[in-house]
Parts: sequence; structure tokens; C-alpha cells
Amino acid sequence: TGYTTLDGGFVNTASTKSAITYIDGAEGILRYRGYPIEQLAEKSSFIEVSYLLIYGELPTTEQLDAFTDRIRRHTLLHEDLKRFFDGFPRNAHPMPVVSSAVNALSAYYQDSLDPDDPEQVELSTIRLLAKLPTIAAYAYKKSVGQPFLYPDNSKSYVENFLRMTFGFPAEPYEADPELVKALDMLLILHADHEQNCSTSTVRLVGSSDANLFTSISGGINALWGPLHGGANQAVLEMLYRIQGEGGDSADFLNRVKNKEAGVKLMGFGHRVYKNYDPRAAIVRKTAHSILEKLGSGDELLDIAMKLEEVALNDDYFVERKLYPNVDFYTGLIYRAMGFPERMFTVLFALGRLPGWIAHWQEMHQDPNGKIGRPRQIYTGYTERAYEGIDGRS
Ligand code: CMC
Repeated sequence: TGYTTLDGGFVNTASTKSAITYIDGAEGILRYRGYPIEQLAEKSSFIEVSYLLIYGELPTTEQLDAFTDRIRRHTLLHEDLKRFFDGFPRNAHPMPVVSSAVNALSAYYQDSLDPDDPEQVELSTIRLLAKLPTIAAYAYKKSVGQPFLYPDNSKSYVENFLRMTFGFPAEPYEADPELVKALDMLLILHADHEQNCSTSTVRLVGSSDANLFTSISGGINALWGPLHGGANQAVLEMLYRIQGEGGDSADFLNRVKNKEAGVKLMGFGHRVYKNYDPRAAIVRKTAHSILEKLGSGDELLDIAMKLEEVALNDDYFVERKLYPNVDFYTGLIYRAMGFPERMFTVLFALGRLPGWIAHWQEMHQDPNGKIGRPRQIYTGYTERAYEGIDGRS
């Protein structure tokens, strides 16, 4: 048509301007609002980083206290929404349960749906941050047939989530501070990654002026795929498979290189990073310390490290610039913390939430914002004459 260029998979097309997250894929650099991910992971908290992503600046003490308090006040789910979980089969994957419950927030909290009203956007932002851990924990409780716990707002964001996930009503639950810190740090590492598949989905859904809850629900669905956030579950399944077949990493990598159907080195490769993913470097260190402390999954860690070592020295991976990404080691940590594989991608969603919200808000604040509407290159028939049913073969 003269003006349409084809860029399948948006390999080289910017869909937007953005001031939230900077990535230099060749150098392996990731910064949120200018702050290096390494410093945020070491020094900050997930709530602070959420504030940074959404409002653009690190909070002062007063701002952080006010933000934390507001989130605490919204952690409860409407009792009717609690019953919504009962309609799902117990063996359901938690991702569709979580995305459905997030979408259902649009039905239960109708006073915060207007994308053009800043107060309503702020309220839906706080509600999402407050309620997603509760929703995630209930999806887990449903899957294991255990009773739901009300949030305990005397606890921190991550402690509260761990208690609702692993605790029991009327029983005290004390989370190990080292695990709380590790999970908080993992959430920081996942908090944003500019225009990835799920974030672009949130923007595209939101570009029609769809409300924040429903846009985020779309992002959660996009995240579920194994090429995106679902990779953390897929990595662990791959490690189990290699372990079950005798633990021969080199043999598995040969099958990957021969492009055997369905055999890929999960947790490796990235559209933007052509160097070591800086998040993977941090996660790798944490995996060692957490697994050492908890003493579980050592054999799987050994397999993962062997895979990494062989791959990083193999021409196939070197030529294609394939390095471990954030998902390569996270599953081992989640597993050591006691999460089943099916919850891994839910944990990714908990972390990515502030990034999705920040992008949705940035898009809505853009005075030149337009509905997302890609063009196509049509390859079908030109014009055909309609054939009545008796004349068709
Ligand atoms: N194992 C084996 N070969 C690979 C892999 C891999 N993990 N990743 C890429 N390749 C090969 C691919 O086959 C292609 O080879 P060739 O040039 O011979 O056709 C070449 O490397 C370039 O790959 P691509 O598929 O064109 O790259 P992409 O940018 O379209 O895909 C990716 C990026 C992340 C989808 C891909 O690397 C992949 O499937 N990785 C495994 C899944 C994974 O770990 N995903 C998590 C991504 S990071 C966090 C997140 O988003 O959740």
C-alpha cells in the first residue's frame, strides 16, 4: 500500500516513547528511571521500587509511609470475589485463575474504572497492588484445598503474601527474614522491562480506554506463555527432565542444537539482551545462597550450572549471543522456598505489576496518545465472486 512496513514480532519497531526503563542489550544494562538494577536490588524494597516506577521518583519517608498505608488498607478481597475462586477446578493452573480474578475486579470495584479520572486511576492502582498478593495466595490455597486466610496488615507486603500462601488460620506464621528479603529482591528484578510482550499487551488493551484492571488482566495472560514469563516454570520442568534422563547436560544441548522439535534451552536467549542478562547475574548469586541455606535442589542447581557452562562455551549459543535470562535460575529459588512450579509465573506477575501500571499510566498521560492499531500486509485472495452452497466443491 506504499506506507506499510512489515516488522513481524516488532523486532525493530518502537511502539512508543517511554521514560520508565532503560535497557542496553549489548552491554547488559538495566535501569529503572535511571537507577541501576543492581543498586535497587541491593538497597531498595519492592514497595519503594513500585513507587519509583509509577510516580517517577524514589519516595521520601513520608511518601513511602503514606503509600504503604494506602496499600495496606486495600488488601482485603470482597467476600463475593472470594467465592469466585470456588468455581474453578482444583487442578486449574493458577495463571488463568489469577487473570480472571483481576479482570473480575472491574465488576467488583466499579468506582475506579474511569481511565480519565486521576483519582479513580490512583484508587485502581492501589487496589491492584494491594489485592494481587491476596488473589495469588487464594489461587494457591484453592489448588491445594486449604482454607483462605485474611490478610494480616501488621505484616510487610511480602510477609503478608507468604503468610496467606503458606500459613493456616489461627496458627502463627513467621516467615524467615532471609526468604522475605530474597523474594522482595526477586520482585524488584521483575518489576519492569520496558516494551516486553505483556507490557505491550497492557498498553494495547489500555489504548482503547479499557480500564486498568482489565488491561492488567490481559498482561497476565500474555505473561503466561512459555516464551515469556512461563519460562520460569518451563526451566524447572526442563531440569527435571534432564535429571530424569540421567543428568547429561551435553546430550540435552546437542538435541537443542539439532533443533529437535520441542527441545529448547529454556531460560536462555532474549530479544534485547545480547549479553548476560543483568538480572540473571543477581539471581544466580541468590540461588547459591538460598539453596545452600535451605539445602534443597542442589542436584538441579548443578545441572543448571553445567548447562550454562557448556552453553556459554558452545559455538551455537556464542554465535547467536544466547545467554541466561532472568528465568534461568529463579525457579530453583522459588522451589527451595516451597512454591510449586505452577506458582512460578504468578510470582513473576506479582513482580511485574508496578511496571504494567506505570506503562498504562504513562500511555494515558500522553497528550498525543492514540489507540493501538497496527497495519498489515494482506496476502489473501484479491476478489472472488460469491459461490452458492450447491456450487461449492
Ligand atoms: N534455545 C535454543 N535456541 C535458541 C534459544 C533457546 N533458548 N533462543 C533463541 N534460539 C535461537 C533461535 O532458534 C534462532 O536460531 P536460528 O538463527 O538458527 O533460527 C536464534 O537463536 C535467534 O532466536 P530468535 O527466536 O529469533 O530470537 P527472539 O528474539 O525471537 O526470541 C526468546 C527470544 C526469548 C523468545 C527466545 O530466545 C526463546 O525462546 N528463549 C527461551 C524461552 C525463554 O527463556 N523466555 C524468557 C525470556 S526472558 C524473560 C521473559 O520475558 O519472561
